[in-house]
Amino acid sequence: MSVRVTILCDNSVGPISGTLGEHGFAALVEPEGGEPVLFDTGQGFTLLHNARRMGKDLTRVGKVVLSHGHFDHTGGLLPLLTECGGKAVYAHEGIFAPRHRVKDTGECYPIGIPHERAVLEAAGALFDLSGSYREIAPGIALTGEVPRVTPFESGDRGLYCDCSGQEHDTTPDDQSLVIETEKGLVILLGCCHAGLINTLEHVAYVTGRRDIYAVIGGSHLGFCSREQFDRTVEVLRGMVMRKLALSHCTGFAASARLSREMPKEFQAAMVGYTLEI
Ligand SMILES: [Fe+2]
Ligand SMILES: [Fe+2]
Repeated sequence: MSVRVTILCDNSVGPISGTLGEHGFAALVEPEGGEPVLFDTGQGFTLLHNARRMGKDLTRVGKVVLSHGHFDHTGGLLPLLTECGGKAVYAHEGIFAPRHRVKDTGECYPIGIPHERAVLEAAGALFDLSGSYREIAPGIALTGEVPRVTPFESGDRGLYCDCSGQEHDTTPDDQSLVIETEKGLVILLGCCHAGLINTLEHVAYVTGRRDIYAVIGGSHLGFCSREQFDRTVEVLRGMVMRKLALSHCTGFAASARLSREMPKEFQAAMVGYTLEI
């Protein structure tokens, strides 16, 4: 399958005039001859604007995927539905769970989906929720829930189910998108709270394929321990992949290190970044 992937929302912007950044992520997947699929929607401030600046008609999108239930991936859904009409929305059944970031100071911020399910449904969302691996369009699949198997991917320790900071939120709803192309798999990450290596191993298990062409999106390595980062790079170096195009919650410091350690593969997938296969 030939496909074009374009980053519509990210923390950083590339050189396309008039595009805007926000802490969030969204990417448009355009399979040749097929209907475009939107993977994540950003916070809601830049999706429609950036799509317009890049000449992307989101009324053509029939299917939206929400990688997980954080505001910076789901906040753009309501404005999208309001402006572009109803969509099928694919996600894990846990996306509406309450979630918070609790800082060391005890400060607590809600970071879940900013709109209620009923409001989204009234605006035209047709939710199709599942934690299983499944194909959602020809050659395009969702990983389903990713088993946490590596001993070093402990994830972001600041995420909690409630403000008391008692129950750690492992973000079980985190899923990635897998696109089959002639050059190999293209894997789109939202925040990759499940861990990058856990995710890539799960993709290999469910697809039976290890021919990765590109990994694109948020790795969350900017929010993880130094040990997790070091071990992740060690494992990545043993894998064959052409492009490691990370952004969003990868953050500046982790991106700079990855760029130094894997200079041939690493690219910054900011707003406007396009991969065509
Ligand atoms: Fe995120
Ligand atoms: Fe997230």
